[in-house]
Amino acid sequence: MTTLLFRSNADRDDWWRETLLAEIPDLDFRVWPDTGDKAEIDYALVWKPETGLLASLPNLRAIFSLGAGVDHIFADAELPKHIPMCRVINPNMALRMREWIVMHTLMHHRRHREYDRQQRDRIWQELLQPHAGERRVGVMGLGELGGDAARHLAILGFDTAGWSRSPKKVDGVTCFSGADGLPDFLARTEILICLLPLTEQTRGIVDRKLLSGLPRGATFINGGRGGHVVEEDLLAMLDEGHVSEATLDVFQTEPLPEDSPFWKHPQVTVTPHIAAFSDPRALVEQVVENIRRDQAGQPLINRVDPDRGY
Ligand code: NAP
Ligand code: GLV
Repeated sequence: MTTLLFRSNADRDDWWRETLLAEIPDLDFRVWPDTGDKAEIDYALVWKPETGLLASLPNLRAIFSLGAGVDHIFADAELPKHIPMCRVINPNMALRMREWIVMHTLMHHRRHREYDRQQRDRIWQELLQPHAGERRVGVMGLGELGGDAARHLAILGFDTAGWSRSPKKVDGVTCFSGADGLPDFLARTEILICLLPLTEQTRGIVDRKLLSGLPRGATFINGGRGGHVVEEDLLAMLDEGHVSEATLDVFQTEPLPEDSPFWKHPQVTVTPHIAAFSDPRALVEQVVENIRRDQAGQPLINRVDPDRGY
């Protein structure tokens, strides 16, 4: 008997149970907090597990993240780091993120916020804009999602650059890396997109200093994590006009508190952490594959590096 503990914040326990049991009929599917005997649990499929929950499972064989990001798991100070951890990587999620990034890049590029205002005021007026080849877009994070988004922005004709920790080659994209590459990357970026993972190195990376490195009037799109942004700095830079507009999907506190200034900021678009949700069908495939691999003594797919934190 294989036992899996499910801990999510969505109300879809029955769907997960039925879908996983269809693939692994003898699976003992337990939903937190009804863990039963913790020594029986082999796998944990989790989103934001409570501190100490994973450490309390003495025979845990692998941790599966319900998302692409794993910062919600590393946030547990008692995380048993020697247990293999796997995250979501699949074309379905990359496609969803690509759609969201392309949509908001185009909204900024085509000055859609201003046309919205003009429509409300019944103003019929053309606004000038460069063509895509003259628009410099920059993606922070060139991994599964950022690499895909950058490639597709380049295909749309944008003058696209990317920034990563280690040097990368991405078709059609000018690549920068490391702390040394950051100033030049920022200086040429008019639409900055964040698709970094949240780690000790990237927490608070989008602050006044970083934003000051962008040309005046640049726009910012965050599809990474709220923890990447020093929100007070972004608000100040928006009010000063150094940053002209922002699209934010993720926030330091989620759900975004009712009194957050972002809700009503005239230059900000808010979406409720929906840029790319993990399609449960695609996720089930990966979990089943990994359980089968583990039971057969084969290496797991989509492993997270515990030292890098992503
Ligand atoms: P990934 O494949 O792990 O790629 C991460 C990229 O960030 C890599 O290119 C990596 O550089 C770079 N990076 C990491 N630390 C860095 C640093 N200190 N300096 C510069 N670059 C750094 O991650 P992914 O699958 O693309 O996902 C990225 C993030 O998107 C997730 O962690 C999650 O937070 C977020 N996300 C959000 C949503 C949403 O709905 N809003 C949905 C899914 C994911 P190297 O290539 O050199 O390793
Ligand atoms: C969502 O934010 C994810 O990390 O998959």
